[in-house]
Amino acid sequence: MTDKIIIKEVPIDEVVKVNATIVEFDAQYQKDYFDNKYKNKDKLIIVAYIDNHPTGYIVGYDRFEDGSFYCWMAGVNPRFRKLSVLKALMNYENAWAKEKGYNTIKIKTRNNRREMLSYLIKYGFAFTEVIQYPDIDNNRILLEKEL
Ligand SMILES: CC(C)(COP(=O)(O)OP(=O)(O)OC[C@H]1O[C@@H](n2cnc3c(N)ncnc32)[C@H](O)[C@@H]1OP(=O)(O)O)[C@@H](O)C(=O)NCCC(=O)NCCS
Repeated sequence: MTDKIIIKEVPIDEVVKVNATIVEFDAQYQKDYFDNKYKNKDKLIIVAYIDNHPTGYIVGYDRFEDGSFYCWMAGVNPRFRKLSVLKALMNYENAWAKEKGYNTIKIKTRNNRREMLSYLIKYGFAFTEVIQYPDIDNNRILLEKEL
């Protein structure tokens, strides 16, 4: 399946469209929401296509300026889940970041993002911190992986 998935670096408008299909995220996020995050930072904006149809995205940027690359947002349209789209996006991001000289991928997720946590554990990320929230489901989980 993975060989049918094409990853492209795209303008943020393409991500805004895909984001609207991801039920767990706020569909209203517009271009400015994304642009304000990575303003003046090195960034990667990628979308995964199956048969020319956009299926999922990752937006990452050099948040910490410590040699790590921060995977900020990742999501896949529910119609295209469990087809290895996230894996293809992550593989692209890892290779891109390594090529640019970054040494680590950092990511923050939540207790209630079970699929993401499964991916992160299975594919070699290590826990670095847990930030407590009143609702344990919302606890932020910080992880990283060496490139
Ligand atoms: C998390 C998400 C991006 C996964 O996308 P996906 O394209 O379906 O994932 P993949 O098919 O590439 O699967 C990658 C790995 O994730 C894990 N995984 C994905 N879906 C899973 C599920 N339903 N149950 C258990 N593990 C799952 C598995 O480890 C899988 O690896 P494997 O196929 O080798 O076992 C998608 O479920 C999503 O968009 N969720 C809502 C938004 C979200 O939580 N984003 C992350 C915020 S930090």
